[in-house]
Amino acid sequence: MAGLIDESILNDILTRVNIVEVISEYIPLKRTGRNFKACCPFHQEKTASFVVSLDKQIYHCFGCGAGGNVFSFLMAYERLEFPEAVEILAKKAGVMLEQRSTQVNKSSEANSQLRKINQLAADFYGNILHSPEGAKAREYLIKRGIKQETAKQFSLGFSRDCWDSLCAHLRSNDFSLSLIEKAGLAIPKEAGGYYDRFRNRIIFPIFDIKSSCIGFGARVTDQSLPKYINSPETPIYRKGHNLYGFNLAKDAVRDSDFVAVVEGYLDCIIPFQHGMHNIVASQGTALTPDQARLIKRYTHNVVMVYDGDLAGELATLRSLEIFIEEEMSVRIAPLPSGYDPDTYVRKFGIDSLNKLVGDADNLFDYQLKVLKRKYDSKDSEGKAKIASIMLATIRKLKDAILRDEYIRKLSDKLDVDESFVRDVYNNLKAENTVGDIVSASFNKLAKTNPTEKLLMKLMLEETELVSQIKDRVDPDDFQDKLISRIVKTMFDLSTQGKNCSTHNLLNYLGEADLSQIVCESTFMPEVSGTEKEKIIDDCILRLKKNKQQLNRKRLQEAIKLAETAGNEEELNKLKEEFNSLIKQG
Ligand code: UTP
Ligand code: MN
Repeated sequence: MAGLIDESILNDILTRVNIVEVISEYIPLKRTGRNFKACCPFHQEKTASFVVSLDKQIYHCFGCGAGGNVFSFLMAYERLEFPEAVEILAKKAGVMLEQRSTQVNKSSEANSQLRKINQLAADFYGNILHSPEGAKAREYLIKRGIKQETAKQFSLGFSRDCWDSLCAHLRSNDFSLSLIEKAGLAIPKEAGGYYDRFRNRIIFPIFDIKSSCIGFGARVTDQSLPKYINSPETPIYRKGHNLYGFNLAKDAVRDSDFVAVVEGYLDCIIPFQHGMHNIVASQGTALTPDQARLIKRYTHNVVMVYDGDLAGELATLRSLEIFIEEEMSVRIAPLPSGYDPDTYVRKFGIDSLNKLVGDADNLFDYQLKVLKRKYDSKDSEGKAKIASIMLATIRKLKDAILRDEYIRKLSDKLDVDESFVRDVYNNLKAENTVGDIVSASFNKLAKTNPTEKLLMKLMLEETELVSQIKDRVDPDDFQDKLISRIVKTMFDLSTQGKNCSTHNLLNYLGEADLSQIVCESTFMPEVSGTEKEKIIDDCILRLKKNKQQLNRKRLQEAIKLAETAGNEEELNKLKEEFNSLIKQG
């Protein structure tokens, strides 16, 4: 992860910022000895299992396994990419990235150019809408019930019916065609040259949460197709990472402690105009875990306002299980068939929509309602079918007490014996235990081979011994794939003469899984003093033995195969190998 950023810069930043101070800006930390504690911001809990170490400058949650250094925290909490987290912390630390012309700097500079060009385009489209040549477009907006003031609030615009109007404008502002293309605003012609992507359309600029323009949606003003076109993915516009209107909604979402999620641009704008300010649009696609986590920074409560037909789709309900994974609450407000939030508000008024949203069913009740419509809940076959689908959702709940409660509720609603539902549940569980999510990462480490875990921990404690250990074992000697990758990273750092302290190592472990294991192990009690080298020797010995045993097992199996296949030549070769293994061991 740190590959592209100068290590000395990272260390510079790490020595100047204090993880306790940084995290305190987001959540209240309580001191307990040398550590600090809080309720984990990455999962819902009532007792604090999130620990920050002042000495080691890392954090770890004993509940959900989240962990890392100050960069990881910022990435996870603010949903940032590594270079973005580096940039923010560099600013805080007063470390100049500019003068060092790093990769971070280059990519953030490129991104800020993209933001600039998007903003310029948004202004350009906005000016056209509100100028004389935008008269027809304004008429269309009036027809759709959008006031001028609302159009300005959402920075709506209009693109001329012309092939190069925007390109010409952006070029006259010194932006290159290649950047215009990179921003998704122009499309290259086969014969060379470029043309504007958006022509003769109402423009809906898409902003990120900080109100920086990252892309566009654009609608025709007649019946032609496609109805909407959108910006392609760009380095700053990644689909499923953003929610339309969130920049305007975020304060209301925080204050009301819930958010209404709708599908379309108009479905967001019209209710907003009528006073429902805690509303965002998913832009016509199923919600992603990233979007759920974005919401979670402001509220744990989501109301999906779906048109009636769609809300009845089981597939749609399934996709809402992402909120269960995030331990958020989701309710569903289905609209009468044929209406979307825009047309519903215009016909029945915002109070009606408010009432629908207020009365929304939780996922459990709603799913049950839908299933009861679909299957006959009077006969036992129907009951079993409903139970198994409902239980698949219930199984995803992380809170055991809540799961229990729902199982009881389900048996009650289906009017069957609780023991029957429990049986179905247990069968379901037996089939799919692999995916069970009960504090997954805690188990991750518990399951790893204790010897391998111990050796890794010792290497983290005694980094000066890493180079010696490197000469004696191979990362492949570790059977646990994750630990093996961590060890390999440490060895690589050591070979390059770099420091492999936890501190530095965390910058090089690209995957969150690996950082979590390192941080969890750091918070385990330290291995006591003088005996360390002896313990290391023991570990290495056992590692080698394990490997030999595994090799032996593999050979024995190969021999069996060769015997059944009657492959003499292969058999002899394998037996020879086996004998030499025995001699070694
Ligand atoms: P809808 O077809 O429901 O449109 O698509 P709408 O928002 O109600 O549009 P109006 O009321 O006819 O103006 C919902 C959302 O799906 C995306 C858009 O984000 C739209 O707001 N969509 C739809 C597209 O991206 N492309 C399309 O061609 C259609
Ligand atoms: Mn609509």
